[in-house]
This record gives sequence, structure tokens and C-alpha cells, in this order.
Amino acid sequence: MQPRVIETLNKGVSRRRFLTSALAAGAALTLADKLALAQEMATGKLTAKDIHGVGVEPGLVRMALNENPIGPSPRALQAIAENMFNINRYSFGGGDMNQALADFDGIELPKPDPSRRGQGGRFRRRRTPFFITAGSGALLSQISLAYLSKGGGEIIEAEQGYGSVMGDAEDYNEMGIETNVIKVPMKNYGHDLDAMLQAITPKTTMVVITNPNNPTGTLLSYAEQEKFVAAVPSNILVVIDEAYIQFVKDPNYKNTATLATKYDNVIVTRTFSKVFGMPAMRLGYGICSEPIQEKLRFYSTGSPNMLAYVAGEAAIKDRAHYRRSQEVVWHFRDRLEEEFTKMGLEYIPSSSNFMMVNLGKPSMNIMRAMFEKGVMVTNRRREAYPTWIRVSSGSEAETEVFLNVLKEVMGKTI
Ligand SMILES: Cc1ncc(COP(=O)(O)O)c(C=O)c1O
Repeated sequence: MQPRVIETLNKGVSRRRFLTSALAAGAALTLADKLALAQEMATGKLTAKDIHGVGVEPGLVRMALNENPIGPSPRALQAIAENMFNINRYSFGGGDMNQALADFDGIELPKPDPSRRGQGGRFRRRRTPFFITAGSGALLSQISLAYLSKGGGEIIEAEQGYGSVMGDAEDYNEMGIETNVIKVPMKNYGHDLDAMLQAITPKTTMVVITNPNNPTGTLLSYAEQEKFVAAVPSNILVVIDEAYIQFVKDPNYKNTATLATKYDNVIVTRTFSKVFGMPAMRLGYGICSEPIQEKLRFYSTGSPNMLAYVAGEAAIKDRAHYRRSQEVVWHFRDRLEEEFTKMGLEYIPSSSNFMMVNLGKPSMNIMRAMFEKGVMVTNRRREAYPTWIRVSSGSEAETEVFLNVLKEVMGKTI
């Protein structure tokens, strides 16, 4: 046994609790430790009390908000630590986030243009397809402001899509800014792109797609999206919200960023909140043409903070941690599919870091009973899916606790 393990046990921490928290944190355990934990899990007796997840208080298994259970890259944390003593100074950049994003997506950036030298010989903003914001939620709001807030526009979104831009449009209507909202019903829990295309009218300002979709986790293929984008008139903005795209498992899935670099009316939105595990830092970006950026810039209220930039750049370069974050989610999905099948529960196969499952009875009681046992899931869309819950990925140990508690509560709840 590693000295660290012995030392912790001597301090009176239960072996099980130590191992589960070490596993949740992705610590390097010995083979003996891993076997011991596997045995604990196989007994089916793990409870929320055994868990100390990353970034939450001990005893709470938080699987409700589509967060990253293993946390951010240690390199991101190191970058924050190295830079936090400089926050008394305004930051003029240092690294090159644009280049890091371009490398990640395999996008070639234009060379800096010497004619765009600004004051002090510094280059003025380099034209890149990246529009960096304080989270992708902020970017979606900026899109609403730029394209809908003057009124007279029209937005088309799936009936059970993420609904953030649609929600803004509904708010505008309440404020007397007339904006037409068209909600297109989904097909097999996914976007019905043909119906969305049919719904376009001469008034349409934008169409919003969430891929993979939240809350259903369904995925559109690149070919379906390309066909759709090619058919949408070029004066209509197509928003493709890809907050969860990095959880797609198919290695041949084609990167939709190319649609945003090919079509001037397409914006793909991404975030550092999910696979990169840093939602509290608030960092996101859009991939889009210069004309779209010009419209959005008019509504900019400031850039993300310097610590978010340095952490984001370090995180996106840490491919090993990125891979580990994906693998935790893929394991979670496999485990749930296996157990839900055994339990005879209907679920929606997910391409994301969450999954929807139909419990066959009102989910509110079950959700409350699970919360009392320290497991937090959600049924935010209960008007549409009254017997379903959405569960977000946990670590291996957290996932086992979720399954144990779900089985226990389902047996007792009507
Ligand atoms: C589909 C989708 N888009 C965008 C966001 C916003 O994420 P953030 O503002 O943290 O980048 C979320 C958050 O959960 C989401 O689910």
C-alpha cells in the first residue's frame, strides 16, 4: 500500500472514503487500491457518504448540472497559480489563445497583417474566426441582442432544444419588443431539420441547433447539418451550439467548425465549462465569419478575465486530461446503458455528458428522495417529460452511488 494511503488511514479516514475520493480526483492509485475499490463497488453498498467529489462538499453526489466530475486540467490550475499574483495589472495577453483554438480545431489562421499595426507598434486584433467570450451562455445572449433585440425578427428552435436564445426572444416579447418564436417539435427526441427548414418564413432571422442536444443528448451528423446549412437562405443566421461536442465518441465524426469557416451565416458556439471542466471561470467562444463578429462586437461588454485565458489555453493544450475527461463520460454512458437495460428502463442513448431516463412514474418524488440520500439529478423539463430525469456524468464511484440510490428509491417510491 502506498505510504499516502497508510497515512490517511492512520488519521482515521475510512479506507473506502479515501479510495473513492482519490478515484474521483483521478489520483494515481496502486493496482491493490484499484482492486480494493472495485470490490467495494461490486458489493453495491457505496453511498453518497463515501464520496468526496471534486469541487463539492463531502457526501454530495452532484450529477445535475452537466459538469466535469474530474475537474480541470492540473496544467490549467498551475497556469492560474502562476498568474494570480499579476492581477493588479491590466492584462494585454501573453499566450496565444487564438492559435491554441486553431490548433485544437485544425483551422489555419491568417498571418498577422503588418498594415494593421496599432499604437506602439503592437498588432491590432488579428482577424481570426474565433470570438472569445465569458462563457458560451454570454455569447448566446450576445447573439440574441445583436440579431433579435431590435424587434421584428423571428427565431426557429427545436421544441425541446436548449432554448436559451428562444428564452431571450420570449423575454423581449414580454418587454414589448415583438419577436416571432417558432418552436419545431422534435423527432425521436432529436432535431427534425427538415421540419425546421420548412418552418422558415421571409421574416426568419435565425435558426438555432443544439448539437448534441441538451437535454436529450441526441446527435446530428455532419452531413445532415451541411445539407441544412446549404439550404438555409444566406441572410439567416444559423447558430450551432456545440457545448457538448467533445463527448461524441465516433472518431470519424467530422468537425462542424468547418461549416462556420465555409459559410458566412453560420456560428458554432463552444465552451470551456464541460469537457475542460472550468464553468466557474466563464470562458467560451464562437467560430464565425468577420461580418458576424462585427455585429456581435457592437454588443460586447468586455472580455473574459486573464486567469480564464491562461487556464483555458493550458487546458486546451492538455490532450491527456482532455482524453481522460472524455473517457470518464464514455464509461458513465456505458454503465448507465447496461444498468438501465437490466432495470427495463427506457433511456435516450446519449452523445453527451448526461443521459435522460424514463422512470415510468412521476420523477419529482424520486428526485426528492434521491436528493435526501445525497444524490442530485434534475427533471428541469418535467412539463414535457414528467416521468424522466436527466443525470449528468459522475466519476466511476459517483456513478455507482447514483445507480445504487436510484434502485433503492425506485423500489420504495410510487
Ligand atoms: C447547450 C448549452 N449551451 C450553452 C451552455 C452555457 O454554458 P457556459 O455559459 O457555461 O459556456 C450550456 C450550459 O449548460 C448548455 O447546456
